[in-house]
Amino acid sequence: MNREADVLVIGAGPGGYPAAIRASQLGKKVVVVEKEYLGGVCNHVGCIPSKALISASKLYRKIHEAGEIGITASGVKLDWTKLQAWKKGVVKRLSDGVGNLLKGNKVDVVWGTARLTGPNSAEVKLRDGGSETIRFKDCILAAGSAPIEIPGFKPDGKRIVTSTEALEFPEVPKRLVIIGAGAIGLEIACFYANFGTKVTVVELMPQVLPGVDTEVARYMERALRKRGIEYHLEAKAKSATVSGAQVKVAFEVGGKPQEVEADHCLVAVGRRALTQALGLDAAGVKLHAKGWVEVNNKMQTSVPHVYAIGDLVGAPQLAHKASKEGLVAAEVICGRPALRDFATVPGVIFTDPEIASAGLTEDEAKKAGHDVGVGKFPFAASGRAITALETDGFTKIVFDKKTHLVLGVHIIGPEASDLISEASLALEMGATVEDLAWTVHPHPTLGEAMAEAAEDAEGFPVHTMKRAA
Ligand code: FAD
Ligand code: NAI
Repeated sequence: MNREADVLVIGAGPGGYPAAIRASQLGKKVVVVEKEYLGGVCNHVGCIPSKALISASKLYRKIHEAGEIGITASGVKLDWTKLQAWKKGVVKRLSDGVGNLLKGNKVDVVWGTARLTGPNSAEVKLRDGGSETIRFKDCILAAGSAPIEIPGFKPDGKRIVTSTEALEFPEVPKRLVIIGAGAIGLEIACFYANFGTKVTVVELMPQVLPGVDTEVARYMERALRKRGIEYHLEAKAKSATVSGAQVKVAFEVGGKPQEVEADHCLVAVGRRALTQALGLDAAGVKLHAKGWVEVNNKMQTSVPHVYAIGDLVGAPQLAHKASKEGLVAAEVICGRPALRDFATVPGVIFTDPEIASAGLTEDEAKKAGHDVGVGKFPFAASGRAITALETDGFTKIVFDKKTHLVLGVHIIGPEASDLISEASLALEMGATVEDLAWTVHPHPTLGEAMAEAAEDAEGFPVHTMKRAA
């Protein structure tokens, strides 16, 4: 069978499906080809299932800590099978929602695996057998990413696993080793630790969460210890050997060999763009030397009517970045003046406590030549945080001392994931620390931490003592 489309979208993840909807809203005939699931990695084996388990694990921890405020519960039990079933239901609900949105916006969905066969054509191996050819005027590549494998750690889906299996172990592991203290490694470490798993993390670099503001990462290291999570930094992972229901993980720290045994070993050392099977050569699409698809700020590849978005075009590999890039691609195709010109793409790591950041870290701001100032406010001084029994962490504003412009905001603490949006808006609007300090924040809220940190930046903190210059 042959099909014609104005716009072909390959992949219905958080990049592809919004792109398809927007192009259709703007009058194009759109076809999406998806091989596995509507909503992509994020919805099925990433953001959503992991956050469902993280929410449950926090609730579990809080129930156990509530004795401090006079609430004691006896016989609190975790029914892992029921939790997994609930998590699956959440995923299904959101995935069905994506299906309804595509249908409601008159986007045709073709189930199968697509490969470009030329600059204006693709072949689809249909999921139910057979194939079809799609001819298109414009194409948006949104095929996403897959876990990176490292030598000595061949995933077997049971003992040596990727994040996908780690989110659905048949039972809560007693012991878990995680290779990589990045976003996936530490989110999973925190929620299993809350459920009582003995977690050991092996990280190559000298700090956890490389790329995160150093002060925040150091605070996280202390928080991990508090949760009973053991970690080894500057550690070289060597091999994982399965024996029955156990896996032995060998690694080296400072040249000294070490070993740890566990029920499972999760390898979370990054994700690679899924470029290989897309037929990029047939269309003439070029790759960056590091393996992702190269694009300009209109999301055009080296072939201008072929666009690429999301994890396929490299870091940051985040769902909200993929979605915004999808909208840019769709609008450019429809002749609108859209550009990928974001002042910031905020990032959140849903550890316990959470970490959220937008803009430059203190080190990055110094390297960029700014005369850097910092304003801070600890959640231990926040009335709302104290009433919520969540006093770990702080808000840190990085600013330019000459212009007072906000350069970056880094939060570790309760609801950091929601608090960061104010910082993103501040950065997009070119706000100064005075703008943040003089914005009236409701009391008592966690959001006050932003204004308090801004007052500290100005040198006039009210609820903390003035720091020595
Ligand atoms: P994907 O979501 O990977 O979607 C690509 C789609 O294309 C898939 O559905 C795939 O089946 C399909 N596809 C691939 N090749 C073909 C083909 N040839 N033909 C047809 N279909 C094809 N990000 C956040 O912002 N917040 C989080 O909390 C978060 N948590 C995460 C937790 C985990 C455990 C993981 C693994 C990732 C997490 N991420 C998170 C990252 C986020 O999932 C990705 O950045 C996001 O999914 C990228 O979207 P995408 O559309 O580019 O790709
Ligand atoms: P990552 O890049 O965040 O972290 C990988 C970690 O592994 C790094 O700390 C790195 O130094 C370490 N590492 C690399 N090779 C190693 C080795 N041989 N031995 C030991 N450590 C090694 O990648 P991760 O955690 O796999 O996540 C992939 C992507 O998924 C992230 O970059 C992020 O964009 C996205 N994600 C986002 C989340 C969020 O937004 N909340 C949550 C989870 C994932």
